[in-house]
Amino acid sequence: MKKIKTVLIGMGKIGYTGDLKNKKKIQTHYKALNENKHIDLICVVENKKINLKNKKVKIYKNINKIKFLDFELAVVAVPTKDHFKVLKFLINLKQSKMILCEKPFTDDYKKAKQISTLSKKKNKYVYVNYFRRTIPSFIKLKHYLKKSNKVKKMNVFYSKNLIRNGCHFIDLAHFLFGKIQFDQVNKFRKELCLKSNNAFIKLNFINNRKNDNFFEINFDNKTIIVDKKTRIFEKVNTKKKQIFKNSRNEIDIFQKISLNTFIIHYLNKSQRNNGGIYNSEDLLNTLNIIKKSKL
Ligand SMILES: NC(=O)c1ccc[n+]([C@@H]2O[C@H](COP(=O)([O-])OP(=O)(O)OC[C@H]3O[C@@H](n4cnc5c(N)ncnc54)[C@H](O)[C@@H]3O)[C@@H](O)[C@H]2O)c1
Repeated sequence: MKKIKTVLIGMGKIGYTGDLKNKKKIQTHYKALNENKHIDLICVVENKKINLKNKKVKIYKNINKIKFLDFELAVVAVPTKDHFKVLKFLINLKQSKMILCEKPFTDDYKKAKQISTLSKKKNKYVYVNYFRRTIPSFIKLKHYLKKSNKVKKMNVFYSKNLIRNGCHFIDLAHFLFGKIQFDQVNKFRKELCLKSNNAFIKLNFINNRKNDNFFEINFDNKTIIVDKKTRIFEKVNTKKKQIFKNSRNEIDIFQKISLNTFIIHYLNKSQRNNGGIYNSEDLLNTLNIIKKSKL
C-alpha cells in the first residue's frame, strides 16, 4: 500500500525532544510518525537549528519551503499561539488533505471557528490531538460508565493552566458524558463547574509545575479513581481494585496510539464519531467554555 507522505511542523517537546531521553516511550510525533508503517515522513519544519540521525528526513527552517512539496498529512506541533496561522497556511495548500494539530485547537474560540469553517469549505480534515479519547483504557472507561444511568460526579485536579492542560479534561468530559456546558466558575478558588444531562464536572486547579493530573468519578456508591500515573481503580467502600490493567503502559505510548487511530480513521474515510474521533462541535465547545470561564 502507498504510504502517506507526511510533514511535521514544530520539533520542540511534543514534536521531537520529549522522547530523546526515553527509548521505551512514544510520546512525540517524530517517533510515532517514524515508527508507523503507513507513514513516509518526508520532512520536518523547525525554526531553530536541529540535527536528526535519520538523514532521509529533510529539515526546513521555514514553512514556506513545503509549499511545493508533495504530501498528504501535516502534523502541527508549534506553540498554541501559532496554531491559527499555521493551520490557515496548511488548509489553503492544495496538497494537504489531513492535518493533525496539537491541542488546544487554537488559543481562542473565534480563531477556531474560522479554521473550522475554512476546513469545511476546502474539504480538509483537521484533527486535534486530544489523545485521551484514543487510549483503549479510557474507551473502556466510557463504556463502563455508560452501563449505569445514575448521575455521575467527576472531580478533576489539573496543574499548569486551563488552556494548556485543563482543556484535556474538558475534552475528556465531552468524550465520557456527551455534550457538556459551562455552569459556573469560582475565580478565587480557580474552580470551573460544568454539567451535562447526566453528569456534574468540577475542574480544580492545583498549583504545580508538573503534569500532575488525576480525577475521580462518583456514582452508585462507588468511586472510579484515575491516579497521577493514569492507573484506573474502582473503589467500593474501602475495597479498591485496578480495573483496566494496561492504562499506565498505554499512556507511555500515547502518541503511537493516537496516530494509529487517526490513520485508521483517515484511511477508512470514515465520518463516524467512533473511538478517538470527536466532532468539531466538541472542539469549539471546549474553547467556548474556556472563554466563558475567563480563568
Ligand atoms: N497532546 C498533549 O498532551 C500535549 C503535550 C504537550 C504539548 N502539547 C501542545 O503541543 C504544542 C507544542 O508544545 P511544545 O511543548 O512541544 O512546545 P515547544 O515550544 O517545546 O515546541 C514548539 C516548537 O515549534 C517551533 N516553531 C514555532 N513556530 C514554528 C513555525 N512556524 N515553523 C516551524 N517551527 C516552529 C519552535 O521553535 C519550537 O521548537 C502546543 O500547542 C501544546 O499545547 C500537547
